Amino acid sequence: MSLTVTDLKVHYRTLRGDVRALDGVSFDVADGEILGLAGESGCGKTTLGKSLIRLDGRMKHVGGKVELNGTELPLSDDRAMNAFRFHEVSLVPQYSMSALNPTRRIGRMIRELLASRGAQVDTAELQRRLSLVGLKPEVLEQYPIELSGGMKQRVVMVISTLLDPALLIADEVTSALDVSTQQAVAGALVGLRDKGLVNSMIFITHDLALTSHIADSIMVMYAGKLAEKAPSKVITTQPRHPYTKLLIDSLPEVGVRHGERRLTGIEGSPPSLLKPPVGCRFRDRCPLADDGCKKEPPATEIAPHHYVACWKA
Ligand SMILES: Nc1ncnc2c1ncn2[C@@H]1O[C@H](COP(=O)(O)OP(=O)(O)OP(=O)(O)O)[C@@H](O)[C@H]1O
Ligand code: SF4
Ligand SMILES: [Mg+2]
Repeated sequence: MSLTVTDLKVHYRTLRGDVRALDGVSFDVADGEILGLAGESGCGKTTLGKSLIRLDGRMKHVGGKVELNGTELPLSDDRAMNAFRFHEVSLVPQYSMSALNPTRRIGRMIRELLASRGAQVDTAELQRRLSLVGLKPEVLEQYPIELSGGMKQRVVMVISTLLDPALLIADEVTSALDVSTQQAVAGALVGLRDKGLVNSMIFITHDLALTSHIADSIMVMYAGKLAEKAPSKVITTQPRHPYTKLLIDSLPEVGVRHGERRLTGIEGSPPSLLKPPVGCRFRDRCPLADDGCKKEPPATEIAPHHYVACWKA
């Protein structure tokens, strides 16, 4: 599996004008790779994930292309996307564990869902898949209300991967869970890749620390654009974009006592995507900004597999 996204632009139509949620983003996901996608709330992570599956009524594909194994995905053609949706690319949507139908037992819900996608699965196979993410077969007879958050999230992961998609996009699957459950669910996701149920993955989160543990590479977005992308180790130890550096600096370090090292947030807030400023979008908040930053910095490969969109990198 290989995914190539080139200059992708997806906007939301609103009464006040277009929200430029994805404004020219390019990157690749390699065969077997887990790509972590991080960045502040509103930077376009969910929009990117949804764009690869289904554009909702207000979303508009304005430019750029997405290729899966060399074939261009027909993003604007909802019907033509059926050939790829769930079979080739699948999504665990943000907040989906809270959206499980409360009136259906898990097993029945899964069968109905599969039937609506023209597929079926026998009980033994379903049980095998549940056990791969650490769930017992009894779950099939239970209602969502009887499951913990971590169990519901695993059920949603199983549902999203039943058709063995090449690429799985997992949107904030760990956000609503406690820390130990987060790690277990993230581990179960990696297990899906290691056991060959999915080939590659985009793991969307605002938790950079958790991402660095499971992702091969990390892409940081800012205000609808790529800020930096590199192997996980490089992002966490040698970030080159000022925004990534501030994100890393704001992470708590285990064993460091408060008082010895102050935790810093990033002052200010991201620009509106209705009328984003020209030039570098991080300019208002960047400690290194100067007049040169009034021109937009292109994402440049400064070392193998290390892309940075900053004039000072
Ligand atoms: N339906 C919509 N109509 C108009 N604007 C939208 C819509 N959905 C999202 N947006 C805007 O698009 C931008 C990107 O939103 P998106 O949900 O992709 O961000 P995100 O990175 O996933 O944020 P979060 O971390 O909070 O989930 C934001 O500015 C958001 O306000
Ligand atoms: S281009 Fe300029 S404003 Fe933007 S991140 Fe780099 S130094 Fe800061
Ligand atoms: Mg989101």
